[in-house]
Amino acid sequence: MYSIGLIGCGEVAEHGHLPAILGGGDFRLAATCDLNRRRAELLASRAGGAAHYTDWRELLAREAELDAVVLALPPEISPEVAIECLGRKLAVLDEKPLATTLADGRRLQRAVEQHRGVYQVGFVLRYGQWVNEISRLTAQLGSPLQISVEVYDERLNPDDPAHLARITGFIKTSSAMTHEGSHVIDYVSLWNPSHWTSASAVAKQTSAAFSGPNIWESRINLADRSTVLVRIGWLLPELPPSTVTIVGPAGRLDFDCAAGRGHVELDGAEKSFAAPPLAPEWSSQYAAFAEAIARGHAASATVDDGLRALETTLACELSARTGSAIAPADLYAEAARSTSDCGLVNQEAPDRPVESC
Ligand SMILES: NC(=O)c1ccc[n+]([C@@H]2O[C@H](COP(=O)([O-])OP(=O)(O)OC[C@H]3O[C@@H](n4cnc5c(N)ncnc54)[C@H](O)[C@@H]3O)[C@@H](O)[C@H]2O)c1
Repeated sequence: MYSIGLIGCGEVAEHGHLPAILGGGDFRLAATCDLNRRRAELLASRAGGAAHYTDWRELLAREAELDAVVLALPPEISPEVAIECLGRKLAVLDEKPLATTLADGRRLQRAVEQHRGVYQVGFVLRYGQWVNEISRLTAQLGSPLQISVEVYDERLNPDDPAHLARITGFIKTSSAMTHEGSHVIDYVSLWNPSHWTSASAVAKQTSAAFSGPNIWESRINLADRSTVLVRIGWLLPELPPSTVTIVGPAGRLDFDCAAGRGHVELDGAEKSFAAPPLAPEWSSQYAAFAEAIARGHAASATVDDGLRALETTLACELSARTGSAIAPADLYAEAARSTSDCGLVNQEAPDRPVESC
């Protein structure tokens, strides 16, 4: 059984990570940490009185027996913590998105390489049976594909100001595209692993009370000439159904993510299919993490998967700001300009340094 520390004791830690750690047989919760002492105490008490801290550096210094940490922190905070943990040879399960800037994402990737670390991104939706089933069916649709994913979440509830504050907090420091869209980019990469070649996006803000856009429409072109259309809607009073549609030369697939029902037309034949609806697959994620620790490296939801999602969603953000389509070289040049980080390497062409360096 691996000894694990939980850093960040907010919503996803309380309702996702903690039950998965306590309910599975692979991990023992040794310590918790949150800036908010009450949150750290609360989650520690649910684990039968684990140690609790308000300073993650103190947790790392004092808990010498740890094998692993879970980081359920805001993504502008988590890269620094993850890099320190990797340097201490701790396995890291890090909530998505792995960072909010390309510079931080690349720093993290370099740290994983340098320390040969066990690092897994919390892409908890990729383990869904529906993701596998769509992957199996998509392989029969041919290429290029037109993939369209619509996700509506975080319903606006006027009676829940704490929810609104948490979500507008995410939108202020990052975006709905990076938070929610990173999941989409991740599971779409399991259906079509082609690298992105350009992204364009339009973003809308439906209330002055929000801290930024809550509706996104992003179009991503892939190297095999496939296209991915991602629509994200947060903070809407009513949520339309979340759906997947994939059209290829050999047919078409439709899936209603909440109902778990799909329909496929393939070479003129039609059939329905069913899969458990879209939901976080916590126990599968933790089983994959335990296997990664035993193996000595992550085999799923790797740092490269996290960086691919971050690159794509940051390109969408840059496109929405500038009104132009963004290619990988544009994104890396912009990141180098804004950070003066000549260690930034274009994932598309790793041997070629970014232009401004
Ligand atoms: N995988 C998923 O499906 C999923 C779902 C929800 C959230 N998330 C991700 O998880 C992360 C956390 O989300 P959340 O909804 O729990 O947010 P939250 O705001 O409820 O929790 C974040 C917690 O981190 C604590 N914190 C902030 N800075 C800290 C620091 N320096 N040291 C210690 N604690 C610190 C805050 O006090 C807070 O309790 C985000 O990156 C979010 O995108 C993932």
